[in-house]
Amino acid sequence: MGMSAAEFDRWYADHAVSPAADELVQRVLGLPPQVQSTSLLSWDALDEVVAALDLHDGQVLLDLACGRGGYGLEIARRRGARVTGVDFSAVAIEQARRLADALGLADRAEFRVGELTATGLGAASADAVLVVDAIQFADPAVDALRECRRVLVPGGRVVITGWEALDPTDERLPPRLRQLDLAEQLARAGFADVRVTSKPAWRVAERALWEEALTVDAGDDRTLRSMQDEARQVLASFDGRRRILATATA
Ligand SMILES: C[S@@+](CC[C@H](N)C(=O)[O-])C[C@H]1O[C@@H](n2cnc3c(N)ncnc32)[C@H](O)[C@@H]1O
Repeated sequence: MGMSAAEFDRWYADHAVSPAADELVQRVLGLPPQVQSTSLLSWDALDEVVAALDLHDGQVLLDLACGRGGYGLEIARRRGARVTGVDFSAVAIEQARRLADALGLADRAEFRVGELTATGLGAASADAVLVVDAIQFADPAVDALRECRRVLVPGGRVVITGWEALDPTDERLPPRLRQLDLAEQLARAGFADVRVTSKPAWRVAERALWEEALTVDAGDDRTLRSMQDEARQVLASFDGRRRILATATA
C-alpha cells in the first residue's frame, strides 16, 4: 500500500539539499522556519490539531510517522509536553534529532525508527498520538490504529489529519487513499468518541501549494521535481478526495 523506507530515505536526503522546496511549503502553509513539514498541514490548521490533542504540561505526545519532527516539536514547545517521534525513515529521524537540538528541545524529545503498525513503544506510554498526513501509508490502516490505541493511556486522544476518497471506487486516486474509512476503522480498532470532520477550508492552502509548485523552475532540484509530479497527480483528482480531521479517545 505504501512506499518503502528506502524510498522515503532518498526523499528526505533530497529535501536536505532543497531549501527552495522548504521555502515554498513554509510560505504557502504559513509555517515558521522551525516547523519543518513534509505534509499539507498549515499553521492555522495546526491550532485545531493542538486543541484536539488536549495535551498538558509534562505529558507525552507520540508523533507517529513524524518525518522531520516539525509539528511534534512545535506542539511540545507550545504545551510544555514531551514528544516521541517515530518514523520508518532513518534519514528523517536523524534530521528530526538535529532539529530538536537546534530548537533547544532535545531534553524533551526522543526520535526513533519504527513502523506505523509497530512503533516499538510500550503499552500505555503516550498521553496523545498525532498522525499528520501519513495514515494512508499503513498497511492496513486499521493495524496502525490498533497500535495507536495500544500505546495510548486509557482516555488518551488520537488525532489524525489526512484525506479520504469521496468514492472508494474512484481509480484516479491511489489505492492507499481508497482504503481509508477512518470512522469505521477507528471504531474497529476499539476507539470511543470517534469523530471524522471534513475540512474544506484546509484545502485552500493545499491547492495553492500544488498550483504554486507547478509555476517554479525546478531545474535539477529533485525535491521540486517530485513535488511537481505529485502536484499534477493530486490536482487531476483534487475534487475526488476530502480533507479530514479524525479524533477519538482510547
Ligand atoms: C507525508 S510525510 C508526513 C511527515 C510528517 N508527519 C509531517 O507532517 O511533516 C509521510 C511520512 O510517513 C512516513 N511513513 C510512511 N510509511 C510509513 C510506515 N509504514 N511506518 C512509519 N512511517 C512511515 C514517511 O517516512 C514520511 O515521513
